[in-house]
Amino acid sequence: MGWCQLRINIDNRQADALSESLMEAGAIAVTFTDATDHPLYEPKPGTTPLWPSTAVTALFNSQHEAQRVFVGLGDQFGLLALGAPAFKQLEDRVWEHAWRERYQPVDCGDGLWVGPDDFVADAPDACVVRIEPGLAFGTGGHATTALCLRWIASHVMSGVRIVDFGCGSGILGIAALLRGAQSVIAVDHEAQARTATLENAQRNGVHKKITTCATMAEMVEPVDGILANVLLNPLLELRDEFAARLRVGGWIVLSGVLADQTELLADAYGERFDQMQISTEGDWARLSACLKS
Ligand SMILES: C[S@@+](CC[C@H](N)C(=O)[O-])C[C@H]1O[C@@H](n2cnc3c(N)ncnc32)[C@H](O)[C@@H]1O
Repeated sequence: MGWCQLRINIDNRQADALSESLMEAGAIAVTFTDATDHPLYEPKPGTTPLWPSTAVTALFNSQHEAQRVFVGLGDQFGLLALGAPAFKQLEDRVWEHAWRERYQPVDCGDGLWVGPDDFVADAPDACVVRIEPGLAFGTGGHATTALCLRWIASHVMSGVRIVDFGCGSGILGIAALLRGAQSVIAVDHEAQARTATLENAQRNGVHKKITTCATMAEMVEPVDGILANVLLNPLLELRDEFAARLRVGGWIVLSGVLADQTELLADAYGERFDQMQISTEGDWARLSACLKS
C-alpha cells in the first residue's frame, strides 16, 4: 500500500492548531520541520520552540483523502495562511530499515570509524564506534562531531581520564575509550542524552568505564582532558569551570562554534589556555588548547 504526504508551511503560532485539525481529520502522523532555513540550536531543556515558518507534514492513506482534508482546512485557517500545499506520493517500504540507508559510516582518520552495528571497516586494526541513531545528537555526520573525532583519532588517548561535556549520544567519550582512554565522565543536562550514552557505551563494551551526570558539580578528581561540542555561549561561560576541572597542562577540545566565532573563543580562552590550534570544516570550527601552569 502507498501513502500520501501533505505538507503545508505555516506561521509557527498556528502550527499546533493545524496539527490538531489534521489529526482530527484522520492524519496517521504529523511532523514539524523548518520551512525555511532558521536552525534552532540547543533549545533550553523542557522547551520545544518551533521555527518562524514551520512545515507541517501529515501522512494520509491516499492522495484523494489528503486533498479532501486540505480543502476542509481552508475554512478554518484561510487559504492565504495555508499557502500552496505540496502532495507527495510515498512508496510503501520497510521503515525500520530506511534510516540505515541514510546512516553512512564516517571515516575519522587514523583507523577510527563510526558506523552502524553491521558495518565492517576494510582494515584489520580499525576501531569502529557503533552508534545507534536516536534522539540524542551525535552520529558523526555533523561537522562539529567529525572535527572532535578527528582530533581524538590523531592524539594519544591511552590511559587518559576525560570529561565528555554535552555528551549527546556519547560518541566522543566512547571513541576516546575505544582508543584507550581510562575513564570518561559524560555530562549532559538532557536525561535522554545520558540514557543514550549509557546504551551506546554498552553497545561498544565500554560501559564500565563511563559515568554520566547532569553537571560537573559532583566531580572530585581533576581530569586530563575535556571534549566539549556545545555552542559558543556555553563555551564562553564555562571557561573557568573547565579550567578548574583540568590538571595543569590538561587539554580541551572545543567545537560547536562557527568558523567566524573562533576569534571570540580564542580571545576568551587565551587568558587561561595556550598551545591553541584551530581547525575548520565548512562553516564549523574546532579549537584545542592546553591549560597554562
Ligand atoms: C551538539 S550536541 C553534541 C553531542 C556529541 N557530544 C557530539 O559531539 O556529537 C550538544 C549536547 O550538549 C548538551 N548541552 C548543551 N549545553 C549544555 C550544558 N550547559 N550543560 C550540559 N549539557 C549541555 C545538549 O543537551 C546536547 O546533547
